[in-house]
Amino acid sequence: MEIETLLEIKNLSINFIDDNNQEYLVVDDVSFKIAKGKITGLVGESGCGKTLTALSIMNLLPYPIAKIISGSILFKDIDLLKTPSAELQKIRGKQISMIFQEPTASLSPLKKIYHQLSETLDIHNYSLNYNEKKKLCLEWLEKVGIPEADKRLEAYPFELSGGMQQRVMIAMALITHPELLIADEPTTALDVTIQAQILNLILKMQEELKMAVLLITHDLAIVSEICEYVIIMYAGKIVEMANTIELFKNPLHPYTNGLLKSIIDLTQKTEKLYNIPGIVPAPSEKINGCKFSPRCQSAKDICFNNIPQLKKYSDNHYAACFCIN
Ligand SMILES: Nc1ncnc2c1ncn2[C@@H]1O[C@H](COP(=O)(O)OP(=O)(O)OP(=O)(O)O)[C@@H](O)[C@H]1O
Ligand SMILES: [Mg+2]
Repeated sequence: MEIETLLEIKNLSINFIDDNNQEYLVVDDVSFKIAKGKITGLVGESGCGKTLTALSIMNLLPYPIAKIISGSILFKDIDLLKTPSAELQKIRGKQISMIFQEPTASLSPLKKIYHQLSETLDIHNYSLNYNEKKKLCLEWLEKVGIPEADKRLEAYPFELSGGMQQRVMIAMALITHPELLIADEPTTALDVTIQAQILNLILKMQEELKMAVLLITHDLAIVSEICEYVIIMYAGKIVEMANTIELFKNPLHPYTNGLLKSIIDLTQKTEKLYNIPGIVPAPSEKINGCKFSPRCQSAKDICFNNIPQLKKYSDNHYAACFCIN
């Protein structure tokens, strides 16, 4: 079946500027597509550039410390990087919404839940009267599984648990029926049982609204459960991407293999959890060849002096590594 592209990032590079005005490349020539109505996972350890990539889609990069130095982001043929901010405002929060790890990043502590939800409707010019707006907000709180929704409409965020705040944030992101939801580690701050509930909620909403989701996570176990496609980032670059079944069946990059080995397998009573040796290099660290080579057990001479490019290995399966047979 033909895959329909909703958003395409082409050759995106982002520089990060430190206190001494030094610039470092933190997102390096990243290109990928998000398919319409599907869940795509963006995976990598901390500091790999996942959040900066996602923020650039929303034009929310922290100014002036991060800046896009090249690339384009096409959303249904509109280049978001060339779109005037007034136009972008209409797309952001309406056609593309984002949720973050910390609900406090999106919820105002000073406004009741009803005000926050209805404000989203006001911003996007929903011409509804007070009663219609209230009914819609109530419906959404119920949809995202908030008990006693009518009471919660009148509550302040601090009166709700972290999991409930996350549900409100999801309602706020989805009340406008976006075509793309970007979820940046939406469950990392929650305890494990709540994490599963929130992921199931995102999945249910994705099916109901038939929207695309870009799910950013450290956790390949989550990806295997809910994503159709996976993009693996390491130190600012894409090192592998494929559809999920193919990636789990036939992982090509040593980094992907390391991440897969680190998944907790509760059925195996292993002595010790696997960890990829070493850490992600800081952007200021000079590495000549493949950025993963210092941690890679398969690295050969060529890997220390040359940068591997993404190559196609099979339909929809790409990897950037000199060690693939
Ligand atoms: N506010 C900041 N201050 C300093 N450095 C930053 C900041 N934001 C991003 N960076 C730099 O940009 C790089 C990419 O950051 P980004 O937040 O995109 O990583 P990430 O993959 O989302 O990590 P995490 O999984 O921890 O959220 C980091 O290695 C860091 O060096
Ligand atoms: Mg992040």
